[in-house]
Amino acid sequence: MKGVVLAGGLGKRLYPLTKVTNKHLLPVYNKPMIFYPIETLVRAGIIEVLLVTGGENAGDFLRLLGNGKELGLKELNYAYQEGHGGIAEALGLAEDFADKGKVVVILGDNVIEKNIFRHVVAFKQQPSGARILLKKVSHPEHFGVPVFDNGRLVAIEEKPKKPQSDLAVTGIYMYDSHVFNIIKTLERSDRGELEISDVNNSYIKEGTMTHDFLDGWWIDAGSSPDNLILASQWVKETGANNL
Ligand code: DAU
Repeated sequence: MKGVVLAGGLGKRLYPLTKVTNKHLLPVYNKPMIFYPIETLVRAGIIEVLLVTGGENAGDFLRLLGNGKELGLKELNYAYQEGHGGIAEALGLAEDFADKGKVVVILGDNVIEKNIFRHVVAFKQQPSGARILLKKVSHPEHFGVPVFDNGRLVAIEEKPKKPQSDLAVTGIYMYDSHVFNIIKTLERSDRGELEISDVNNSYIKEGTMTHDFLDGWWIDAGSSPDNLILASQWVKETGANNL
């Protein structure tokens, strides 16, 4: 299976750290943030990767990562997102790369402790559809939040004011090639973006979405200065970057 790392967007919540650079190039403990999601894929056996980025610092990713060999990749491809029209818009740029196969998508600011290998294996065995990974959090209102009815996943609400569970949808998504048809039908949200939660809701409606729970800690390091610091602390304390 191939992997897609999404590292576009503005990084407004980290301004002025992101005034002259892309947030995914900022340090998390002893490495640039972008190393972590790439290493997450490599550890799960995904070594053909597309990195989607944008803005004025796109060239810095090439200087930093080159052909990806140093990180254990067989192939590192790049795509450029004009503007910052959302996670689903960025993913839409991966259609040719995916070449009608399944993909594992990870957000460029998501840093995790453990290996996702077992989830990747489970998704490979799933005939079609999508798979999301959930994590218990103390502030679900900052995330996509799953809604359950009698134990059945019935919807995802994006940053709800009144979350219906204490779970977040993490930034690790697995999709079959139908995802690109779904993205083409999406309309922009109030924040002007093509929302990944709308993609996930589409799979839920079709009845082909599965979910599981992520092991170990998870943090979206680029969502606030506090999380940026916390990510560095957790990586240092748990040795998560040496697994
Ligand atoms: O981290 C998990 C959360 O990520 C999910 O729970 C939410 O459902 C999902 O919408 C997303 O929430 P955020 O609002 O935190 O996403 P953010 O705008 O920070 O973007 C996350 C990553 O996606 C970012 O590191 C780079 C990539 N991205 C984002 C945008 C807006 C792009 O590649 N292009 C974009 O246009």
